Amino acid sequence: MSKLDDIVSLSKRRGFIFPGSDVYGGFAGTWDFGPLGVLLKKKIMDSWWTFFVENREDMYGIDAAILMNPKTWEASGHTATFADPLVECKECKSRFRADKIADGINESVSTEEFLSLHVKCPVCGKENWGPIRKFNMMFSTHVGAVLPDDDSELMEKNVAYLRPETAQGIFVNYKNVVDTFYPSLPFGLAQQGKAFRNEISPRDFILRDRECSQMEIEYFVHPNDWEDNFEKMRALFHEFLEKEMGLKTEAIHELEVPAEDRAHYSKRTIDFMFDYPNGTEELMGLAYRTDFDLSNIARESGKSMEYRDKITGESFVPHVIEPSIGVERLFLAVLSNAYVEDEINGEKRVVLKLPENLAPYRFCVSPLLKNKPELVEKAQEVYKILRAKYGNVTWDDSGNIGKRYRKQDEIGTPKCVVIDFDTLEDGTVTVRDRDTTEQIRVKPEEL
Ligand code: GAP
Repeated sequence: MSKLDDIVSLSKRRGFIFPGSDVYGGFAGTWDFGPLGVLLKKKIMDSWWTFFVENREDMYGIDAAILMNPKTWEASGHTATFADPLVECKECKSRFRADKIADGINESVSTEEFLSLHVKCPVCGKENWGPIRKFNMMFSTHVGAVLPDDDSELMEKNVAYLRPETAQGIFVNYKNVVDTFYPSLPFGLAQQGKAFRNEISPRDFILRDRECSQMEIEYFVHPNDWEDNFEKMRALFHEFLEKEMGLKTEAIHELEVPAEDRAHYSKRTIDFMFDYPNGTEELMGLAYRTDFDLSNIARESGKSMEYRDKITGESFVPHVIEPSIGVERLFLAVLSNAYVEDEINGEKRVVLKLPENLAPYRFCVSPLLKNKPELVEKAQEVYKILRAKYGNVTWDDSGNIGKRYRKQDEIGTPKCVVIDFDTLEDGTVTVRDRDTTEQIRVKPEEL
C-alpha cells in the first residue's frame, strides 16, 4: 500500500472522509467529511479566516450566492475558455484529459502535438485517438420552471452554472462594498465556499474533485503597487502554511507559471506546490489578475468600477492580487504532513502529529477502568471541566488503555488524560503525550 492508500484508509476507518454517496457505491469526484473531518476542516478554514480577515483591518468578508447571473461567466471568460483538452480512445471509448496522460504537454495541446507523442490508452493499451476537443468544465443547470422537453431557445435562456470559482462572487460585490464601506486601497475581499468543476479525471483522493471548497481573496491595489503587494501576499502565505498549518518548509515549492500555462486572466502566477504522497502537486495559486475582471464587469454591466482615491482624487480601476487555495488540497497536505508510522517499545503505531490548533480533539479523558464507578465518576468530573474550558474534548472508555491510546494517536489527539486510583488519593491525573508517549502527573486544574 502507498502512503496515500494508508491515508485514505485511515480517513475512512476513523471518520475523517468517506466517499461521496458511499452507500450507493460512491459518486466520482465527490467526498463527504465525517465527524472528525468536519472538525479538522472547520479548524483549517477558521484559521485561514482569523489569519487573513479577522486579524487585519484591510479585509472584508463576503458570502455570495453559488448560482450567479450567467453574464458573470461571459464577462469572466469562463464560458469561452474554462475548458480542458479532452481526448477519446476510438477503441474502448474511454475519455481522458490529454495533458494528464502524456508528459511535457499543457492544457493548450493540439491534436497533432498529442498524436506525435504516441501515447497508449491507459485503459485498453491501444493507440487510436480521436481529435482533441475543448471540454468546458462548468456544470450547467436550468433556473425556474423549465421542462426537459421545452424548446432549446427557452432552455438556453434559462441556463445557469454552478460557480467554478468563488472569485466572481467577490468581483460582482466589489462596487457594493466600495459604496457601503468606503475602504481605502489596498483592501481585500475574502470568501470561503463551494466551487464546482466537471473534471474529466477526478483523482488522487480529494486532490482533484468535482465539488470542492475554495478560500479566496481578491486584494484590490493601485496598478503601480501590484508588485509590492504580490510579494507581501506571497510571504504571508508561506507564514500561514508553515506556522498555522504546520507544513514543513521543505515540502513547499514555488513554481513560476510560464505565460502559456497561465489562466487567461493572469499576468503573473506563482503556484505553491506541495510534496503530496503521490508526488508534487499544486496546493494553491497566487495570481496577478490585473484589472481584467473589474474592467470586464464594467463593460458587461455598463456600471463604472472606478475607484476614486480619497486623498489625490485620482480615478482608476484597481488591479487585483488573488491568492486562491482549495480546502481539500490544504486538508490533504495537513493530513499527509502529520501522518507518521513509528515504533514505540517494539510496537508499530500510526500517529497523526497534527498541530495542536488543528487537532479535532485537544484532550481525550478516560477512566483507567470502565467498571470502577469511583473512577468513572471522577473522570466525568474532569471531562466536564475540560469540556467547559476548551470545547473540543472527547471521552473514551472503550477497550483497554493501550487501545485507547492507539486510537487517539491515529486521530491526532495531543493529550490523553487518565483518571486512576492515584487520582482518588492525591487528585492528580496521568497526562500522556501523543508524540513522545511520555506520561506525567498533574492536577486537572493545571491543564
Ligand atoms: N480563482 C482562481 C482559481 O480558481 P485555480 O487555480 O483554478 O484558480 C485555485 O484554483 C485553487 O483551487 C487550486 O490551487 C486548488 O487548491 C483548488 N482547486 C482547483 N480545482 C480543484 C479541484 N478540482 N479539486 C480540488 N481543489 C481544486
